[in-house]
Amino acid sequence: MLVPVILSGGAGTRLWPVSRSAYPKPFMRMGDGESLLRKTLDRALRLADGGTVLTVTGRDYYFLTRDEYAQHPGADLDRLPFLLEPAGRNTAPAVVLAALHAREHVGADAVLLILPADHLIRDIDAFAADARRATALAQDGWLVTFGIRPTHPETGFGYVRMGAAIDGREGRQVGAFVEKPSREVAESYVASGDYVWNSGMFCFRADALLEVAAQVCPDVLAAAQACHAHATSHESPVEYAREAFLAQPDISIDYAIMERAPKVAVVPAAFDWSDIGSWKAISDLDEADSDGNRVRGQAIVVESENCFIQSDARMVAAVGVKDLVIVDTGDAVLVSHRERAQQVKLVVERLRAVN
Ligand code: GDD
Ligand code: MG
Repeated sequence: MLVPVILSGGAGTRLWPVSRSAYPKPFMRMGDGESLLRKTLDRALRLADGGTVLTVTGRDYYFLTRDEYAQHPGADLDRLPFLLEPAGRNTAPAVVLAALHAREHVGADAVLLILPADHLIRDIDAFAADARRATALAQDGWLVTFGIRPTHPETGFGYVRMGAAIDGREGRQVGAFVEKPSREVAESYVASGDYVWNSGMFCFRADALLEVAAQVCPDVLAAAQACHAHATSHESPVEYAREAFLAQPDISIDYAIMERAPKVAVVPAAFDWSDIGSWKAISDLDEADSDGNRVRGQAIVVESENCFIQSDARMVAAVGVKDLVIVDTGDAVLVSHRERAQQVKLVVERLRAVN
């Protein structure tokens, strides 16, 4: 039984001023008016056996998320259980808690499809076909990731070296899984042609994941088990005792499990993928005009090149500038060099230090 698990956490600070802790990245609306979260639910429902989709998110986002789901015509809220976190402890605890929950409430052979809530995929048919390939591998006990062909030596991603083909299945063994390598290493990986990006979406049987966790990160598993045992409720929304929850190590699934697991497979993605990690990534989604400019909302661009402007409230005008990202939300304005858009997170760090 395939159960998608939507992971929604983290503030997405590189997308300030639109993404904020009160209104993080999964709730951001794309050009068609739909949020990334809603699009993720759409993909999940398409694949969910029996219509069950688990969501792991912060307690503070419960009502906002339910409201978002309620607008989906195919969603039956009774089949969309929530696991609520009192605070973020990164993805390893979130995934292990989801596996413990699924093993108990769905069954030991439940296959989980982990879907971060902030990815954009447009070709849903191709995605569904790849997810089925991954499910077949997961049923054989593999921990599966989806590999994205790299376009540049991104250091914010994990890299997967593709190894031997797997008999009778559409996928490859993972030769090595390297989370967030240095710039030089990333450059050599891209040049070699043997590596793909780890998409951050995974597929595995709940029991297989828990067995691997017992071997490679027993501390994460033990802390999650204690947390699961102290859940305030096993009915949705499942909440966890704060102290037990915070006792879990803050570590991602990539470092805790995927880098160390013995039986990892990769399905090379036939679908398009963006993790919407920065304003540069957002601007790349839109068609540029002949000067390379892209505008969302109200803006006038005069003799400027390669700029992205988004304004929800006021009229923004740019004259004679190049390579800028300008985002106006009415109460805040961001002006950044396009190639420095990753550093927008430093603005949020400064703001936090001041407030
Ligand atoms: N529920 C929950 N709780 N979700 C979380 C938490 C948490 O504590 N922390 C992160 N998430 C969610 C985020 O919302 C995001 O959707 C996803 O898990 C991945 O977390 P990120 O913090 O965005 O990870 P990353 O970008 O550093 O790296 C991961 O994604 C890359 C692709 O986008 C890794 O898997 C990389 O290997 C991968 O290349
Ligand atoms: Mg990310």
